[in-house]
Amino acid sequence: MDRIRIRGGRALNGSIPISGAKNAGLPLMAAALLTDQPLTLTNAPDLADIATMSGLLRQHGLSLEHDKTARTITMSGAATNLEAPYDLVRKMRASILVLGPLLARYGQARVSLPGGCAIGTRPVDLHLKGLEQMGAEINLEAGYIDAKAPKGGLKGAKIYFNQVSVGATENLLIAATLADGVTELVNAAREPEITDLAHCLIAMGAKIEGVGTDRLRIEGVSSLHAATHPVVPDRIEAGTFACAAAITGGSVLLEGAKLEHLGAVIRVLREAGVAVEQEEGGLRVSRLNGLHGVDVMTEPFPGFATDMQAQFMALMAVAEGASMITETIFENRFMHVPELNRMGANINAHGSSAIVRGVKKLSGAPVMATDLRASVSLIIAGLAAGGETIVNRVYHLDRGYERIEQKLSAVGADIERIPG
Ligand code: EPZ
Repeated sequence: MDRIRIRGGRALNGSIPISGAKNAGLPLMAAALLTDQPLTLTNAPDLADIATMSGLLRQHGLSLEHDKTARTITMSGAATNLEAPYDLVRKMRASILVLGPLLARYGQARVSLPGGCAIGTRPVDLHLKGLEQMGAEINLEAGYIDAKAPKGGLKGAKIYFNQVSVGATENLLIAATLADGVTELVNAAREPEITDLAHCLIAMGAKIEGVGTDRLRIEGVSSLHAATHPVVPDRIEAGTFACAAAITGGSVLLEGAKLEHLGAVIRVLREAGVAVEQEEGGLRVSRLNGLHGVDVMTEPFPGFATDMQAQFMALMAVAEGASMITETIFENRFMHVPELNRMGANINAHGSSAIVRGVKKLSGAPVMATDLRASVSLIIAGLAAGGETIVNRVYHLDRGYERIEQKLSAVGADIERIPG
């Protein structure tokens, strides 16, 4: 397994191209199942999870063309196989996003239950309850979801989410585009990736109102057509590199990144002493003076993103004073804590909160990546630590960060991948 070696202490300066968002690309690819006409995504990221979704769509029967140079993915053709098998779904939970489009377009689907993952049990009850409200018959057996739409197809319904869910909002938004009648999603998630998905669906001929709000109204249409859609820049990648620039005391332009896509993360970074300004070409991030501890609670967008929690904790590990970080979205998203402490951080996690007491300097060490965002928090810590840090199991990183060592070394980091 590949490892990444970092020699810390060098300030990052220059500009970093921000790739298309993983968490937009995945639902956008699932939406290709809604029509056999070609859906072309531009600014598509080249990531392991995107490749997994490509494999899943191919085994459903779609044809896909990836042009890595042009950064496009074109999907077309009809699904000939309506089953999403366990061995693919267990590799990537976002595979559950094929359930809505398969059911809406073909009237049935058999999708493996995704099961939990390192950061939590991550049930899909909100996805299933919403589809049942649209008339689907759902049976769970042998670890699979067996779903059937009524004779005339899914019906529009008014669906109240008792908890904000990105994936359930996406699955039901996609399914509602072809349902018979009007669907309302109330207390819908508002992440920029959902707005991006809605824009793509509208380009395909869907009728959606309330885009960007927590109340989406979708009027079903009989069919959707070809479209070309640019994948929105990855705000979490941008936020990650913002923490990297801040912890090293550098100044970096995050090309293509947008202030409004990071919500409360911007306010928190500024309170911590990080300058973040929107420029023509992207977000300019630099550190003025010292960093100071700021309390943070993760929340659905536009609150502080849970996907930024581990990265921000690494930054707070060397801030002046203390920072209380509370994770409200997932039940087990502090696996980076023991690894950061091995690098000399002073972090105490109790249940869903962790108190971070800033230390002067971290020291490099061999550390273990456990999940996507935990692994990148170790990279951030390694960039500022004295000595050498070796991050093991970097396959977690490759799921969500394109060429991270190349992007970081291009702005001055001493970082390299050691093929394993
Ligand atoms: C998406 O996951 C993202 N993944 C996650 O990013 C992100 O952390 C999460 O949204 C929250 O922003 C993709 O977009 C591919 P949720 P998702 O449904 O859709 C509970 C990363 O690092 N819940 O908003 O699975 C759930 O257990 C990944 O890029 C139910 O109880 O998240 C969690 O506690 C990690 N029942 C909370 O809701 C359901 O049916 C939020 O989950 C669905 C969710």
